Amino acid sequence: MGISVGNLSIDAALASAHDRYIKRHPKSAAAYQAARAVMPGGNTRSVLYFDPFPLTMARGAGAEVWDIDGNRYCDFVGEFSAGLYGHTDPVIRAAIIEALDGGIVMAAPTTIEERLATAIRDRFPSLEQLRFCNSGTEANILALVTAIAFTGRRKIMVFREAYHGGVLVFSGGGSPMNVPFDFLLGDYNDAPAAERLIRAHAGSLAAVIVEPILGAAGNIPGGVEFLRTLRRATHDAGALLIFDEVKTSRCGAGGVQALHGVVPDMTTLGKYIGGGLPTGVFGGRADIMGCFDPKGAKALRHAGTFNNNVCSMAAGYAGLTKVFTRARADEFLREQEAFRVELNEKMIALNVPVQFIGLGSMFTVHFSSRPISHPKDIPAISRRLAQLFHIECILSNVLVASRGDIFMSLPVGPQHKAALSEAILRFVDSYGELIRREIAALT
Ligand SMILES: Cc1ncc(COP(=O)(O)O)c(C=O)c1O
Repeated sequence: MGISVGNLSIDAALASAHDRYIKRHPKSAAAYQAARAVMPGGNTRSVLYFDPFPLTMARGAGAEVWDIDGNRYCDFVGEFSAGLYGHTDPVIRAAIIEALDGGIVMAAPTTIEERLATAIRDRFPSLEQLRFCNSGTEANILALVTAIAFTGRRKIMVFREAYHGGVLVFSGGGSPMNVPFDFLLGDYNDAPAAERLIRAHAGSLAAVIVEPILGAAGNIPGGVEFLRTLRRATHDAGALLIFDEVKTSRCGAGGVQALHGVVPDMTTLGKYIGGGLPTGVFGGRADIMGCFDPKGAKALRHAGTFNNNVCSMAAGYAGLTKVFTRARADEFLREQEAFRVELNEKMIALNVPVQFIGLGSMFTVHFSSRPISHPKDIPAISRRLAQLFHIECILSNVLVASRGDIFMSLPVGPQHKAALSEAILRFVDSYGELIRREIAALT
């Protein structure tokens, strides 16, 4: 049965879009079937699956990718923000090649990791000291166990619908695969309730971990007052405040913590910070991170064979110091925020309940005319319409993430933005009546 009222249902529209998608991608269909024989669901990363089957990519260059059926796309998935530098940045490429030429399995400190650590420390106010690991998930797990060890307490406060990695999933009530920490759930952007919860558990709370922008739940920005409240309340409770800036660290030179002037005790980074190669960072106050100094009496041990792998260190350093410099990071935020605002103005002018929520180079399409400050503000129908939007964008040779997320990368030029705007306008032109009807039916 269709979800909608009227002649055209979302289900019927989606089925028609899927038919056109299947016809255009026979080689991706075959590759998906072949992959299913060796990998459950044909993939090794659940977020990359979507119905009827995902595209199989052949190659990428700049801000574009080509699938194995020969279709070219403007890439706004941007590897979910890790692809900040695009696919073939010459500076990043040269740094990786230089690292490869110098030997890749050193089993010792190298000077490049100190240089990257210094470049990161100089950018992010809370990171007095830091250590590397292999992913954002690992960085968050390490930050949380550090907080538990440092405070001697066990409770961890997180927010409903947050995503801190594959084993730290808090959408839809959480995942059976979550690490078994003693979690306490708060509501995002509800400062008074968060403060009450922190106070109520003051004696046992090790840390509050928060994304300054609730990313996977639709790029909902955290209010400054909400973040300030968390800062004050955790301080009063003797708990640590951890900012998961795995994605948001690209919002200006020093991430959201610098933008809002709210400095957490610890911060985690990942995604683009290794220049597009695997890495993660956890760090913070020197007295906390000092626990990892092997010369300390009861030093904590932090292991990881590939923590300081030379390719990620070299690519990350080149990226932060030669490409995504302080000035470029601030400029990129301004440019992309102006583009996002412009898209929203176009939707208002067309009187269609579509909005692009987020900040700067990362935002998500939502189908609603109401303000969105909490995942509960996003109607279920919006997520269904986002699926249709996703497939129709692909059919317009524009790649966005399947949940409607859009990530800008540095090589995105005016021609790519024009392609994205046109795909959006085409979608609104085709489905405007359906969208208006569905959203009006909610009120
Ligand atoms: C906010 C946030 N934290 C952590 C992670 C996990 O990072 P990784 O996929 O590198 O483990 C992600 C990944 O999307 C993320 O968006």
